[in-house]
Amino acid sequence: MPLVNSKELFKKAYDGGYAIGAFNCNNMEIVQAITEAAQECKSPVILQVSAGARKYAKPCYLKHLVEAACEDTDIPIVLHLDHGADFEICKDCIDGGFTSVMIDASSKSFEENIALTKKVVEYAHAHKPYVTVEAELGTLAGIEDDVKVEHGAESYTKPEDVEEFVRRTGCDSLAIAIGTSHGAYKFRPEQCTRDPKTGILLPPPLRFDILEEVSKRLPGFPIVLHGSSSVNQEYVKIINDHGGKLVDAVGVPESQLRQAARLAVCKINIDSDLRLAMTAGIREHMEAHPDHFDPRQYVGDGRKYVKDLVKHKITEVLGSDGKAE
Ligand code: G3H
Ligand code: 13P
Ligand code: ZN
Repeated sequence: MPLVNSKELFKKAYDGGYAIGAFNCNNMEIVQAITEAAQECKSPVILQVSAGARKYAKPCYLKHLVEAACEDTDIPIVLHLDHGADFEICKDCIDGGFTSVMIDASSKSFEENIALTKKVVEYAHAHKPYVTVEAELGTLAGIEDDVKVEHGAESYTKPEDVEEFVRRTGCDSLAIAIGTSHGAYKFRPEQCTRDPKTGILLPPPLRFDILEEVSKRLPGFPIVLHGSSSVNQEYVKIINDHGGKLVDAVGVPESQLRQAARLAVCKINIDSDLRLAMTAGIREHMEAHPDHFDPRQYVGDGRKYVKDLVKHKITEVLGSDGKAE
């Protein structure tokens, strides 16, 4: 099936009370793991590519990997630019066949964010076929490529800004900041309580009050959540039991993401959880088979772990299984 943009998928997700998973991909095994999982769950899926992924794998390799995934499956797949920093990268991706882009001008002033987002929207919507545009208001803590926002320097989305922003930019979806952040260390230990039995950190709840206020002001409009890995502790344990050292890694509980997916959130971004699953599979394999040196053996196990994780997300968190039609 050829690539699709996110317009129809988000409309169905909004009405159906589920979300589409947007998974970051950097290599062949990750593309295969995500799309095979989505195919087996009969779920639409978003493959997203960051500037870092383009640098690592080269745009032409990623493009052809995604084309191969379309040939190998019959589910709707969106190819999306994650965190486009300027007009040029968005244009390059639109010209190169992406069906959706994000322009992330969230670190700029409100007026500058509007001006840049509008410029990208005008270009993307004039493109044939129509390319959907995600924008962002509010800033998340964490690391995206070379930009690091310290905990404490992040800012929640102001609901009173969203109507004017969407009206003036014409964007198709909006990423908001309600307490998630990028990476595997989403909350500082002092923001959490610690389970006395396991020693595991329990994070503070997301700001559902902001999400609800935003969706009241933008009825029917698709909302996006970045930084939505849950940092599943089973993978952290496998990594740590096999020579890794991830201390106090903590994510967003899956129950809260499920709740967000039932509301206006139509796209949930997951990257760190894939990285953890891949690392867990490879570390476990390496320790169990110190004599192996064929990458297909250990990377193959990493791919299997990522595929299992994506199936789990689709069925237990996003609720998009069976929605491919
Ligand atoms: O939002 C950030 C994503 O996890 C992408 O990460 O820039 O290291 O590829 P990356
Ligand atoms: P995580 O680091 O929580 O996986 O977030 C990924 C993301 O938001 C990509 O844009
Ligand atoms: Zn993000």
